[in-house]
Amino acid sequence: MIELKSGLIVSKIKDGTVIDHIPAGRALAVLKVLGIRGIEGSRIALVMNAESSKYGRKDILKIEDRTIEEKEAELITLIAPEATINIIKEYEVVGKRKQEIPDFITGLLKCSNPSCVTNNDPEAVSKFRTIVKRPIVLSCTYCETRLTEDEVMRQILG
Ligand code: CTP
Ligand code: ZN
Repeated sequence: MIELKSGLIVSKIKDGTVIDHIPAGRALAVLKVLGIRGIEGSRIALVMNAESSKYGRKDILKIEDRTIEEKEAELITLIAPEATINIIKEYEVVGKRKQEIPDFITGLLKCSNPSCVTNNDPEAVSKFRTIVKRPIVLSCTYCETRLTEDEVMRQILG
């Protein structure tokens, strides 16, 4: 068991993934991008607004028996750029990934310009270039319309 500074007790997990250093309040958005609704049966611990030595407050997500794919890790950076993805085996941290926000985001977000080719040609796939990382600002590679962090969050949370 670990005891957070807040006094909340959360078990260590045996096998799975711990996503740590999520900005406070965004753990539910991380669950959403992972497609986890809680009805799949895997055991999940969600800690929100825990005290963090690095960033004030943070959320932590512990997911048993689940790995995170590269594409999912990229998505996580859009809502939690400082998150660390810890891979746990037999109670030990055997891997720690800190993902960088990708330079291009393809096929995930929708351009907010209704006349953009990506909203009119059914074959076209959306593609955004990252122009600012914190807070995130993306630019459509077809029409240069910008997406800000609020819009990215809105689209991810649906
Ligand atoms: N953890 C867990 N179960 C385990 C091992 C670790 O839930 N069997 C959690 C820890 O509680 C912590 C995270 O995984 O939230 C990362 O563990 P560790 O690398 O040991 O912690 P730190 O060194 O504090 O990590 P960082 O430097 O990334 O902040
Ligand atoms: Zn566009």
